[in-house]
Amino acid sequence: MSRPKRITVPEFTAFKKSGHKISVLTAYDYPTARLLDEAGVECILVGDTLSMVVQGRENTLPVTVDEMIYHAEMVGRAVDRALVVVDMPFPSNHLGIHKAIETAGRILKQSRAQAVKLEGGAEQAETIQALTNAGIPVMAHCGLRPQSVHQLGGYRVQRDRENLLDDARAVTHAGAFAMVLECVPAKLAAELTAAVSIPTIGIGAGAACDGQVLVVSDLLGLTDGYVPKFAKQYANIKQTIVDAAKQFRDEVRSGAFPAKEHEYE
Ligand code: KIV
Repeated sequence: MSRPKRITVPEFTAFKKSGHKISVLTAYDYPTARLLDEAGVECILVGDTLSMVVQGRENTLPVTVDEMIYHAEMVGRAVDRALVVVDMPFPSNHLGIHKAIETAGRILKQSRAQAVKLEGGAEQAETIQALTNAGIPVMAHCGLRPQSVHQLGGYRVQRDRENLLDDARAVTHAGAFAMVLECVPAKLAAELTAAVSIPTIGIGAGAACDGQVLVVSDLLGLTDGYVPKFAKQYANIKQTIVDAAKQFRDEVRSGAFPAKEHEYE
């Protein structure tokens, strides 16, 4: 049976020119990806945040290529329409061009994903160019780079205008089809957005970006612990789950569940 047409990389890039604002959400499993696709977001990102929000680790560094592919395969299988992008986990884009192509190639071959995302600016231009030349579309990730948390000394707003402009121009020139801008002051993100021909997808980067991305667990109110200022919560699924589990527990204890209609004759 044929599936609906998926959003392609060139169509995604063209959203900037047409002024269509782009919605991106992360997903890490089949049922969530199906629901987000049904909701009509343009892109689903299998982010390395899975290290934190699925695996319960303290940052994004521990997740492996094999684990990313395991989750990306579920998401890729679920999606009919959205563009699927998968993060290159730390340090897979820093191991040389051949290794980067091998890893990104594995991700695309094994997951139905159409592109990879990698953290980095000007210093990653050569890798972005090589991946693009190999037919592997790249979404760059500039501004705050969570994989560099130890070097940065924490998750901080990035304010170095000259560096950020250099990065945005370099990744565009190297062939990236879009870029995430994380934790950049809104005015500076607007300047970066105007300076490049590819869409900027903001997270903590204000309203002038061409699109916005959120971690799905933040959106749904599932995140345990610290939630950054930029993460708007649209639902409180955590409470819904706790309430349902408590009600089940109470009904098992009282004998109200299972009732007659849940029994076989
Ligand atoms: O890994 C991720 O989820 C991301 C988004 C926060 C942009 O990179």
